[in-house]
Amino acid sequence: MIDQIEQIRRAAATEIEAASDLQALDITRVKYLARKGAIANLFDNLKTISATDRPAMGKALNELRQSVQSLFDQKKASLDLAAMPQQTSYDLTLPGRMRWIGSKHPITQTIDEIKRIFIGMGFQVATGPEIEDDYHNFEALNFPPDHPARDMQDTFFITDKILLRTHTSPVQIRVMENQKPPVRVIIPGRVYRNEAISARSYCLFHQVEGLYVDKGVTFSELKGTLLTFARQFYGSSIKYRFRPSFFPFTEPSAEMDITCYLCSGKGCRVCKQTGWLEILGCGMVHPNVFKNVNYDPEEVTGYAFGMGIERITMLRYGVDDIRTLFENDTRFLKQFR
Ligand code: PHE
Repeated sequence: MIDQIEQIRRAAATEIEAASDLQALDITRVKYLARKGAIANLFDNLKTISATDRPAMGKALNELRQSVQSLFDQKKASLDLAAMPQQTSYDLTLPGRMRWIGSKHPITQTIDEIKRIFIGMGFQVATGPEIEDDYHNFEALNFPPDHPARDMQDTFFITDKILLRTHTSPVQIRVMENQKPPVRVIIPGRVYRNEAISARSYCLFHQVEGLYVDKGVTFSELKGTLLTFARQFYGSSIKYRFRPSFFPFTEPSAEMDITCYLCSGKGCRVCKQTGWLEILGCGMVHPNVFKNVNYDPEEVTGYAFGMGIERITMLRYGVDDIRTLFENDTRFLKQFR
């Protein structure tokens, strides 16, 4: 029997090695490894072997089956691999695949530039919630309960007392509630107003607020800071003017105009032939606002300002419809890389 085992081992090895395809290989499987194959046959013959020799013979047979099976498996793996379709050539004329490089939204670019300038003048950046309460958006800013500004602002109310902030000024309150003077911050963010949507106005837009509170802060410092900003942002040759205005949370209040940088003050469609563009509202922080945040108005003074971002972004990039800034059409956005 030992001879037979050796014979089968060699024959199987030779035939498996010689198999040139999967079909030929399968013939060796049937011949040696299958249930009625040569090896199974030898197992059947074990019965005829004397009980003393049987264990050793059984062991030799098992080893035979394992070694033939493993030769078979290896050969099958290599024939399987050879049968796989081969990538033999590459089409070098195919155009390359473009890498998509994102870009900052033009509003973000404008805000970044404004931040850069004010950070350079020692301001820190603060933010606050877009869902506000009536107290921070109006009351603490010295709007009395029946103040027409509450209507004027066309507020989106969520409940009686909760609303979408209509300006970034409530963050002034939040910063002062959490910090002792001196305070010198700018506050960029989204604000919401229930306005009819058109090419010129949208239900949400962005503002950058500024607040500086310390001992002895004056209106002339406000003017100096805003002029420094405007010259860096709009160009050193602009002219400016401050017009008296009104906000409940500042006294005195003003609006700042600069010469229209499209027509250099000659008058055009954008400045409505006036030669001037209004760029922001500002003023000295009202004493009542200080009282609401437990600052002593006898001790400290401060100024605040707030500017809308959409309009200056539109002027800067020649965008004539505010809605394009919110639709996020990549064909539009791609142009601001
Ligand atoms: N919050 C005002 C607005 O939305 C702008 C402003 C801010 C005015 C700070 C004065 C001081 O119109």
